[in-house]
Amino acid sequence: MLKKRLKAEQAQSNVCADIAGFDFNDYDAHDIDEVRHYWLTYGVLRFKNTRITDADQVAFSRNFGEFVIHPKQLQEGGHPTHPEILVISNATQDGKPTGAMGNSEATWHTDTWFYERPPAGAILRAVKIPPSGGDTYFLSTYMAYETLPAALRKLVDGRQIFFQNVYDKTGKLRLGKTEPTSKDFREWSGMVHPLVRTHGETGRKALYLGGTADKAWIVGMPLDESEALLAELWDHTTNEQEVFVQQWEEGDIMMWDNRCTMHRRDSFDPASIRIMHRTTTSGERPI
Ligand SMILES: [Fe+2]
Repeated sequence: MLKKRLKAEQAQSNVCADIAGFDFNDYDAHDIDEVRHYWLTYGVLRFKNTRITDADQVAFSRNFGEFVIHPKQLQEGGHPTHPEILVISNATQDGKPTGAMGNSEATWHTDTWFYERPPAGAILRAVKIPPSGGDTYFLSTYMAYETLPAALRKLVDGRQIFFQNVYDKTGKLRLGKTEPTSKDFREWSGMVHPLVRTHGETGRKALYLGGTADKAWIVGMPLDESEALLAELWDHTTNEQEVFVQQWEEGDIMMWDNRCTMHRRDSFDPASIRIMHRTTTSGERPI
């Protein structure tokens, strides 16, 4: 039994806990075990008002697994001195973006769902925050699965889902991909994952919807039935679940488990600047 030094307090909803008492400049293996324990318990953790450097963030993140390089880190979202960091920003320099994502809304998703091994964790730190907008929302996909009506649960258990990985959600070709020749997206390059995944560490089951119902297919199901079922599952997950809303302040860190949560963010005024630094850790192949 882990002897508790830190304090985890449920924040707003049971999707997230605020962690108090963690010193990013002075921690040991016991403290990390405790953070991991809360991370696995809640799915999302918040550390308020940290005043840490990029190097501190990288050092802290290293305790939670190998780093994953997000495709945007190889493009506009690269950090000048810390290759482990993804820069999410709408700032520009000499007319060129200095980070990924701009100021637009990001709809509900789990990170890089179209990878063979999507990341386990993400650690996101607010460097610069606009006066309004840019809030981030989280929900639990454990709860989405556990609250499914029995009839729906029967339809999803044991099923697999195909995600195309040629285009991103805005319709842009992903890095290294070429225009497909077939009109049927099910023949495109993509990834198949279980629709209900079992978390590699907690053993709990979570609904796995990826990032969009568009051009996703429940393998083996007639396409119209698959589309109708996916619409129902998305509605259940994103409209009926408890949601945690993070209204950022500079220095806040959100740390989420990408295997059992989804998130989205609001847009914000493009005339204001929002800069976030993210580190991402590797996960298991969904089973
Ligand atoms: Fe994301």
